[in-house]
Amino acid sequence: RIPEPCALVIFGVTGDLSRKKLIPAVYDLANRGLLPPGFVVLGFARRDWGDGDFESLAYAAAKKGARTPWREEVWQRLASQFVFVPGSFDDDAAFDHLHDTLNDLRDRNGIAGNVAFYFSIPPAAFPLVLKQLARTGMADNAKSGGWRRVVVEKPFGNDLASAMELNQLVDSVFTPQDVFRIDHYLGKETVQNILALRFANNLFEPTWNSKYVDSVQITMAEDVGIGTRAGFYDAAGAARDVLQNHLLQLLALVAMEEPTSFDPNEIRAEKLKVLKAVALPKDIELGSVRGQYLAGWVAGERAVGYLEEANIPPDSTTETYVAVELHIQNRRWAGVPFYVRCGKRMPRRVTEIAVLFKKAPHLPFNPADVEMLGNNQLVIRVQPDEGVVLKFGSKVPGTAMEVRDIAMDFQYGEAFTESSPEAYERLVLDVLIGDRTLFPDAAEVEQSWRVVDPLEDAWKGTTPEPYRSGEWGPRAADELLAREGRTWRRA
Ligand code: BG6
Repeated sequence: RIPEPCALVIFGVTGDLSRKKLIPAVYDLANRGLLPPGFVVLGFARRDWGDGDFESLAYAAAKKGARTPWREEVWQRLASQFVFVPGSFDDDAAFDHLHDTLNDLRDRNGIAGNVAFYFSIPPAAFPLVLKQLARTGMADNAKSGGWRRVVVEKPFGNDLASAMELNQLVDSVFTPQDVFRIDHYLGKETVQNILALRFANNLFEPTWNSKYVDSVQITMAEDVGIGTRAGFYDAAGAARDVLQNHLLQLLALVAMEEPTSFDPNEIRAEKLKVLKAVALPKDIELGSVRGQYLAGWVAGERAVGYLEEANIPPDSTTETYVAVELHIQNRRWAGVPFYVRCGKRMPRRVTEIAVLFKKAPHLPFNPADVEMLGNNQLVIRVQPDEGVVLKFGSKVPGTAMEVRDIAMDFQYGEAFTESSPEAYERLVLDVLIGDRTLFPDAAEVEQSWRVVDPLEDAWKGTTPEPYRSGEWGPRAADELLAREGRTWRRA
């Protein structure tokens, strides 16, 4: 589907996200022929720039970040569609200028008043920009004669109270169905496939419950450290950075009930129900682990410790690793632990969801012949090497009845010739089309904070467990599972 003629306004257009993700996404959409005629990108930032400067930044960003092949003629067509509006967020005149520019484009480019405002800015700046949009009437659907949407990037607050405040603020300026909260994990092809895998097949769903599932492990491991985001990261930590959003969204998709249809409201309703049912360990100290990386080696390269990273206070107690055992209090999942972990400076980058099934109730084999037989496992590999692996026992060729685990491996690269759009490409397109399926709503965000807030409270004043860069987190994370007779899957 191609969106109606419209404009995309990016606040914070010179920032990292805009250069690495948003502008390349715009190019990829243009390259696939998915942008409407007259489409315009308006960049707003505090630079003394003209349209030409913006276009140069966009050219470099698109060329570097594009997923689809570079085609100069596509760029040439797009190049004149970049418009720059200089200004700071407290500058009324700049916002009046933005307003006039949009009005002008409505007539000149035929964008019919349709505008998406992308907040690629620190949350502290949200109130100011929202106030300006309200003051000028730019957020007003009725006045604009088209649609007005707003795209908000995480962090959605710092805890439940601040998230509620932020939600109220955004909803007071835009109508709730025009607010798009980005969780880029939902834009990933493999994440969307969770629902296809579960609900398009008859094979998995009958066993997708506490009768057959022993436990679920959700892993988001990153080999990188905190990069240049010390300020943000040290105030947030791993739980706020990725557990509150990406990991709980993955958990919701794995654990939710079947929606009555793929209508966005139906899917959200099911996700919300399961998020409401998420329970923390009774004893948080025992059921969760917080870690912080020390210096070490990752993929053959020397990595400094978290406390030696630039701009991190030497006594910081911020966690770069979290493991927690969650439960879902409903009939389907009663008694099934969901072990969720995320960490920076792990041995490699891998995000996966592993559903571990209970062992067969009876094994009519010689015990020595099934020593190499583990739990059946369904592993959804979110990234990299996107795909799904089913692990089960098979007879080892030979005269004995020895049974050993083998893997049936579906890889996107082999099974499909179609290429997946990058998450941001998909999500930017959905915003322009107005499809909210892949965007968490305010209630989901608030429920997720309900899970994370007590963790943060329990951790206050504690020091995270150290782990060496290049290791799979602190030893306590292994002990967490060992106490329950389990081990982490080798992701
Ligand atoms: C972001 C986090 O939301 O996701 C980062 O803020 C993290 O800390 C990133 O590195 C990971 O995204 P991806 O798509 O590379 O897995």
